[in-house]
Amino acid sequence: QFFEPKNGLLKGKKVVISAGPTRERIDPVRYLTNFSTGKMGYAMAAAAHKLGAETVLVSGSVAIEPPAGVRVVHVESAEDMLQAMLAEYDDANIVVKTAAVADYRPKTAHLQKMKKQPGDAIIELERTTDILLTLGERKKDQLLIGFAAETNDVLKYAKGKLEKKNANYIVANDVTQDGAGFGTDTNTVTLVGLNDFEKTFVHLPKKELALELFKTILAREESLT
Ligand code: CTP
Ligand code: CA
Repeated sequence: QFFEPKNGLLKGKKVVISAGPTRERIDPVRYLTNFSTGKMGYAMAAAAHKLGAETVLVSGSVAIEPPAGVRVVHVESAEDMLQAMLAEYDDANIVVKTAAVADYRPKTAHLQKMKKQPGDAIIELERTTDILLTLGERKKDQLLIGFAAETNDVLKYAKGKLEKKNANYIVANDVTQDGAGFGTDTNTVTLVGLNDFEKTFVHLPKKELALELFKTILAREESLT
């Protein structure tokens, strides 16, 4: 039995959502990335728009169409995504970091195509900036929602990220489960919030899950105030 959210639940609010993978350049023809397809983030954007929010979607390179009515900012790297999120942050009411941000990038992005050498190659990597952490440090009244894809000890890691990144909620995703995680149309997640809040959503279509997540979070925030 799915809740049918009233259109207008997010009317007058600005919701900023990051989605998809980042690409970290090795040289002009190669990059490092991950398996994110953007489906969950795009579903979050569609849900925010449906609920009446002014919706901004900061998107890495994906193969799917953005939902109608949403403003899209295209980005490539973690650094681009950081700058785009900061530019939208100050007047945002809700910020959702669905994106699968690369944790590392090549230390140097070569300006010319790298050529094969005899034997193995080594690409030196350096850490990218943690965008959610950066937003958490600058948080004023924004509601900050992160996602976490894990393969083990899902709740323990999610709670650690909630605290460390000063987020209000983490949506914890066990990507080893059937019909959950990267590329699927469904997902199974546990929403984790401050003061030991936990709610699990089992095997929902990502579009319905996105609405359920907003509805649950908004209802809880209302009950807290
Ligand atoms: N995140 C981010 N910037 C990064 C890395 C992660 O904003 N450079 C955000 C993701 O968008 C997500 C949340 O942090 O909302 C959790 O991402 P995850 O990869 O699960 O956590 P990490 O802190 O990167 O830890 P690890 O990958 O080591 O588990
Ligand atoms: Ca990571």
